[in-house]
Amino acid sequence: MAIHKILVTGANGQLGWELGQLASAYPAFEFVLVDRSQLDLSHPDGFEEMITKIAPDCIINTAAYTAVDKSETEKELAYTVNATAVQTLARISKNLAIPFITYSTDYVFDGEATSPYLPTTNVDPVNYYGSTKADGEALAIAEYEQTIVIRTSWVFSTHGNNFVKTMLRLMKEKESLNIVADQKGRPTYARDLAKATMQMVQLLDAGQSIKGIFHYANQGETTWFDFAAKIKAIAGLSCTLHPIDSAAFPTPAKRPKYSVLSTQKIESLLTAPIPNWEDALQACIKALN
Ligand SMILES: NC(=O)c1ccc[n+]([C@@H]2O[C@H](COP(=O)([O-])OP(=O)(O)OC[C@H]3O[C@@H](n4cnc5c(N)ncnc54)[C@H](OP(=O)(O)O)[C@@H]3O)[C@@H](O)[C@H]2O)c1
Repeated sequence: MAIHKILVTGANGQLGWELGQLASAYPAFEFVLVDRSQLDLSHPDGFEEMITKIAPDCIINTAAYTAVDKSETEKELAYTVNATAVQTLARISKNLAIPFITYSTDYVFDGEATSPYLPTTNVDPVNYYGSTKADGEALAIAEYEQTIVIRTSWVFSTHGNNFVKTMLRLMKEKESLNIVADQKGRPTYARDLAKATMQMVQLLDAGQSIKGIFHYANQGETTWFDFAAKIKAIAGLSCTLHPIDSAAFPTPAKRPKYSVLSTQKIESLLTAPIPNWEDALQACIKALN
């Protein structure tokens, strides 16, 4: 079935917003962008009628409960939004016989690996948020085999809250900062992930069969400390950065030591190469200015 109308949830989040920014570049598609006030995933029983009325040809679910530390105490809400609602969206997509794209996280893994995690690597969530996302993936795929799950990591954008914007603010406010240096991962510019998603939508629209789990992150890998150092260099700031161990920065939710995602599978589908994280960071900071 050809795709015309695309329903995007989480319109106010980093990724949802970036998809909205791309809409004018894809005039063949009509984007219906809905935020939390229009489609609340914490009430999964309530939104089937609304979606059926919109009659989308594709659903892209970027909405999620992303407060990683808070999810350790707000368990029920995190589970409803990240697992139950995702299953419901998969069921609605199945009933409408349309593609369903949803996102997940590097936190579905244990963080103990020493080489990049593959989409086929067994999940073993490092924290409660990760376990809600892992359950969301599994429930959605069990409900609707055509579900597409894109796991991503360390997302940043000009819009919303993220490490890049927090660092830029703190580096201007403070003379020195302690940054965790013993966790490794792959930063992801939400703009690049939005573009990759649209490439997949175009392939689906052209009749290609795509389903299952994919990983997307910018090329390369880094630590939070080196990420911060690069932000500082690009922005030309003078704050002193001190590397610290995770043990010196305890958080309610455990973080993975190593959460590098292998993106080989999605690269074989995409027409454009995945940008390097440093170039992506440069583009984001330029867009912020
Ligand atoms: N951010 C990361 O570093 C990261 C890392 C790995 C994976 N991911 C995954 O990537 C996807 C996109 O993340 P993102 O960075 O764009 O997240 P984000 O910026 O935190 O945006 C999430 C959006 O979901 C919305 N939302 C929260 N609860 C909702 C509810 N009950 N009903 C409807 N909407 C609700 C939020 O609404 P409000 O604006 O009203 O709060 C927000 O706009 C998510 O699946 C996330 O789990 C993100």
